[in-house]
Amino acid sequence: MSYNTIITEHQGDIMIITINRPDQLNALNGATIEELNKALALADINKAVRCIILTGAGEKAFVAGADIKEFARFSVSEGSMLAARGQKLLFDFVENMSKPVIAAVNGFALGGGLELAMSTHMRVASDNAKMGLPEVTLGVIPGYGGTQRLAQLVGKGKAMEMITSAAMIPAAEALDWGLVNAVVPQADLMNKCLEIAARIAKNSPTAIAAAIRSVNAGFRDGQNGYTTEITEFGNCFGTADFTEGTTAFLEKRKPTFTGL
Ligand code: COA
Repeated sequence: MSYNTIITEHQGDIMIITINRPDQLNALNGATIEELNKALALADINKAVRCIILTGAGEKAFVAGADIKEFARFSVSEGSMLAARGQKLLFDFVENMSKPVIAAVNGFALGGGLELAMSTHMRVASDNAKMGLPEVTLGVIPGYGGTQRLAQLVGKGKAMEMITSAAMIPAAEALDWGLVNAVVPQADLMNKCLEIAARIAKNSPTAIAAAIRSVNAGFRDGQNGYTTEITEFGNCFGTADFTEGTTAFLEKRKPTFTGL
């Protein structure tokens, strides 16, 4: 599959997706959102892919937001459609992937860029990264899940401050706040993400998918995370991965998981 706005590459069982509009600081336009959806959907069903790393091209930006040039003249209904379509195709889609997505935040992650990073399962930032939700400076609010996921990650008070002040925070502060899992020098960012991905790739894909569903259930209206966990835990006992994992332990060898 070839794309115009993203680059996909495989390193063993790890897939790297790079948003590739560096002259526009990788701003998310409609075409980029659609291509990301296609690439992620293919990765989700590809048994050879165990973990995905999402990053931005160049050294300056992960993603500097939704493409302001594209939506500047939108009407009320077009604005609603933009948020609904983006959430469905990309942000909710990433969050609900069956395999972990790691955001390698290599520079500015602003607006839709930070929202994209927050919809992934974990974030590693380079030390030059800056994060913020500057939408209110444009007369709009975060529309790709930012008002919800930022409050989930850093708490309501800090989320309110970040959203209403539109302040950008440096990577070190994002680490203090729990917005990112780790901060490393920019030159080490991809290696750090590959290291985490390689550890993930060794584990049972069926169990990882069940864990993602269980964690997500706790943040979803109308679902009880504990009940979901009980169901998902029980279902693990019917998988080949469970048989392999427990047998390998008892036989004192490393497991080979098939994701079945
Ligand atoms: N949408 C569309 N284009 C964007 C963009 C966005 N969110 N962010 C950056 N760009 C474009 C700029 O318009 C510029 O394009 P041009 O050369 O065609 O004029 C190019 O990327 C480079 O950006 P520039 O602003 O010149 O870089 P800078 O180093 O001076 O500033 C930022 C960097 C990130 C501070 C600045 O680009 C910015 O504030 N971007 C918008 C951030 C934002 O509000 N995001 C939320 C959107 S909802």
